[in-house]
Amino acid sequence: MKASSVSFYAAVVAVLVGMSWGIVMAISQDHSAMPAHAHLNLLGWVSLFLFGIFYRLHPSLEVTRTALMQVYVWIIGTISLTVGVAMLHAGNKGGEPFAGIGSFVLLGDMLLFGWLVVCYERRDVVRNLALMSPAE
Ligand code: HEM
Ligand code: HEM
Repeated sequence: MKASSVSFYAAVVAVLVGMSWGIVMAISQDHSAMPAHAHLNLLGWVSLFLFGIFYRLHPSLEVTRTALMQVYVWIIGTISLTVGVAMLHAGNKGGEPFAGIGSFVLLGDMLLFGWLVVCYERRDVVRNLALMSPAE
């Protein structure tokens, strides 16, 4: 599957879980899981959907293993951080390694994404300049 498709599917799953969680918090009037809910939605729904749009804009990138790996690592990091933060806010210290490792996995993965953005945006600029130059 292409990196953008994986991003879009995973983003929708994340927001469905995130919204259901939000409704449960609102009905129960127990907002203690708020940071976990917020990050599941922001890392899962918002960030993954944005990655998907970027990959869809760069067809040669989204078929690479690096792009696919970046998306899968983000999904794993988001699950780890969300579970860890939810456990911590429920008073379970066992959530610390999940939240901590998830944070660094996400940061590393964002650095990889940033590097891909720089490489492929540069490539596009060079290609556009070549197209603009007059034919010999
Ligand atoms: C059915 C949909 C949703 C419901 C019922 C819901 C419900 C809630 C509730 C009850 C809180 C706690 C508010 C508080 O304690 O101050 C909250 C916080 C939050 N939610 Fe949602 N939520 C929903 C969807 C979303 C989505 C789609 C996003 C992101 C795209 C999102 C992002 C956030 C954020 C960032 C916070 C923390 C806000 C703050 O710092 O005060 N939520 N949500
Ligand atoms: C490695 C990734 C991240 C880590 C470790 C992290 C960590 C944190 C922490 C420790 C808080 C304070 C929570 C509290 O007061 O209980 C927070 C709040 C918040 N963060 Fe993040 N964050 C990350 C990524 C992001 C991203 C990518 C976004 C937006 C796209 C975001 C949006 C927010 C918002 C809106 C709040 C306030 C709502 C809340 O208290 O949960 N964060 N974050």
